[in-house]
Amino acid sequence: MTAEQTLSRIAKEVSACTKCVLYESRKKSVPGDGPATAEIMFIGEGPGFHENEQGHPFVGASGKFLDQLLSQAGVTREEVFIANVVKCRPPGNRDPLPEELAACDVFLEAQIAAINPSIIVTLGRFSMNRFFPGAKISAVHGQMKKIGERFVIPMFHPAAALHQAALKPSILGDFAKLPDQLNEARRALGRPIIEVKRKVEEVDDHPRQLNLF
Ligand code: URA
Ligand code: SF4
Repeated sequence: MTAEQTLSRIAKEVSACTKCVLYESRKKSVPGDGPATAEIMFIGEGPGFHENEQGHPFVGASGKFLDQLLSQAGVTREEVFIANVVKCRPPGNRDPLPEELAACDVFLEAQIAAINPSIIVTLGRFSMNRFFPGAKISAVHGQMKKIGERFVIPMFHPAAALHQAALKPSILGDFAKLPDQLNEARRALGRPIIEVKRKVEEVDDHPRQLNLF
């Protein structure tokens, strides 16, 4: 099975999942979006109102802000994978409960294994706690740590930065560091340093070069 097929299978399993009570109130499950080849994976908390309506992650107000943050990092949504620690909306946007996080983790674990990203960016404390139990976000945000086969960078949740103006420069600064951290991670993991923009130009140039002959 290819990684892409594995991701589709996970999404299908999520949509039929009844492993925790969140299935009872969900409208649409939100397995996550992005290519199987993504080098960066973002992990948020859980679907909110709009995500539950649409079945896609970060499509509400914090999603708009996330788009801005991604452009700060020089990446687009199409090239990253965006998931959450729970795939169904906690009613009223309450915090996910420990048993819900535990029940849903098999899906996240399988997504990480299939995508095998160089970098995981955790957004908010539930996602951070999965990798750094007991860490303080104010102390560790933006710092990249190797965990197993990849690097993990904890960041503030975009919604937190939207509601607390003081956090905005921090989260913008952390996203701006991502391109350099990605190259650092690639080097450490022995993965190729790909200049995405240059690659696009090469694809564009190709037909023109052929026309010369
Ligand atoms: N907040 C999250 O953590 N995840 C989403 O998908 C949307 C908002
Ligand atoms: Fe299943 Fe996760 Fe949804 Fe709970 S939140 S029902 S474990 S997919």
